[in-house]
Order: sequence, then structure tokens, then C-alpha cells
Amino acid sequence: MTWIAWDASYSVGNALLDSDHRILFDLLCQLHDATETGQSRDVVGNVIRVLAEYTEYHFRREEEIMAAAQCPTLEGHRREHAELELRVRDLRDRYCAGEWTVLGEDVVALLKKWLTDHILVTDKSYRPWVERASGDGPGTAVAAG
Ligand SMILES: [Fe+2]
Repeated sequence: MTWIAWDASYSVGNALLDSDHRILFDLLCQLHDATETGQSRDVVGNVIRVLAEYTEYHFRREEEIMAAAQCPTLEGHRREHAELELRVRDLRDRYCAGEWTVLGEDVVALLKKWLTDHILVTDKSYRPWVERASGDGPGTAVAAG
């Protein structure tokens, strides 16, 4: 069984953002598998580097889409992203600086929890605005102004 897999219950109503979330799940899975199977530090280091990079890339894209959709929760959402980014960046920097023990099983499980909680609660809350802005949703958001 896959350790973490995207399914429709994680959908935020935007194909691009859903696709980003799938990629993040896949990278997290790679990180889990690499640490579980005792891959080399180079391999684990590369996966955490790509994960940190893609996380930042995705967060900026998500914030842009939320801004374009005039989503009222953008500022709080940005702060949550900044906090998550800081945690992932810190893990990457410490691992790549030789602190090999920072990526233990518990920490990788925590990353999974942060990401899934964030998608299921915080990301899902922008769904009505983003769907309305893209014109392919049910249009349940209340128009601003
Ligand atoms: Fe988000």
C-alpha cells in the first residue's frame, strides 16, 4: 500500500492545485521510502531539497490563485504557508548540513500530517472562491462588495 496517496477527498476544486498536491504527496512518499529503505544521504538530501523547492513553488502559485479569486482568507493562509515553509526549509538545511538524524520516521510522519491537515482544512476553505473565479464550480461563494 502506498504510504500517502492523493484521492478525490483532497480535491480543492482547481485542477492545477490538485495536481500540485499530488506532486507534493508523491515527493513526501519518496522521502518516506528513501528514509525507510536506508537510501544514501545524497538520495535523501536530494528528495528533501526538491520537496522544499516544490513546496515553495506551489505555495506561491496557490496564493496567486487565491488573490485572483479575491479570497478573503488569503493573509491568514499566507502565514500558515510561511510557517510550513520554514519547517521544511529548516529540515532541509539541517539535513544537508550533516544533521542526518533530523529526518527520522516521526518527523516524516509529522510532515505528512502538516500537509494533509493543511489541505483538508485550510486549502479546502478557499474552494468556493477559487471555483467561482475559474467559472467551473457551483458558484456558491458570496460576491465581494
Ligand atoms: Fe495552502
